[in-house]
Amino acid sequence: MKTLIIAVDGPAAAGKGTLAAALARALGLPHLDTGLLYRAVARQMLLRGMDPQVDAGDAVALALQPADLARDDLRVPEIDRAASAVATQPGVRAALLQRQRDFAVATGAVIDGRDIGTVVFPDATVKLFVTASARTRALRRHLQLHDGQMPDGATLERLVEDIVARDTKDANRALSPLKCAEDAVVLETDDFDSRQVLDRALDIIHRRHRAG
Ligand code: CDP
Ligand code: CDP
Repeated sequence: MKTLIIAVDGPAAAGKGTLAAALARALGLPHLDTGLLYRAVARQMLLRGMDPQVDAGDAVALALQPADLARDDLRVPEIDRAASAVATQPGVRAALLQRQRDFAVATGAVIDGRDIGTVVFPDATVKLFVTASARTRALRRHLQLHDGQMPDGATLERLVEDIVARDTKDANRALSPLKCAEDAVVLETDDFDSRQVLDRALDIIHRRHRAG
């Protein structure tokens, strides 16, 4: 049987990781959150006081080293911005591209990121593009990072701005920009909770599987 690769792409805080992890559990496949690879390189650059534009060679060397992807401190706002800057570097992308392909090639996998369906696995079995309005995504990220506490108006506005700035940078970079693959199924999730999104995604995958 052909190796099953499920690509989950989309903008920041759309629910890619949550969906990909749940799909992996349901389908018995390994899961790779590729944003963590870029975040781990960014964290090391910040610790060393390095700038990915200036110290591009060091960024590539870091991308080739194994990293602890389970650290909680990879998801802080400072690393959001630094990861997006690191992700513009061609050498970093090339090093991480190979690691992503190696991860999935033997077993199949559910992989989430920005360029999985377009660049990393252009022949993925199923491609999902998960999205929601910037406001919904900012609110989700706040609730996720603050144990379900609602933000005040100004905090939410700042978060919306940060998310829009990062999406703009990710969508406009020269290499592997954030974009929906032509053959991806778009999941608009503003009005759906994680469980409903999972059910829709499983339905799409099973239909595709039955169709051969
Ligand atoms: O979880 P969130 O959507 O906020 O971000 P992430 O998926 O952890 O990705 C962090 C940053 O890494 C993104 O803003 C992108 O710049 C970069 N990234 C990328 O360029 N390509 C990927 N496949 C995954 C992430
Ligand atoms: O990986 P990405 O940055 O796209 O998002 P995430 O970290 O998977 O999800 C951000 C937050 O949104 C998590 O707390 C999810 O529980 C929540 N959420 C979701 O993933 N899907 C929905 N339909 C609604 C909320």
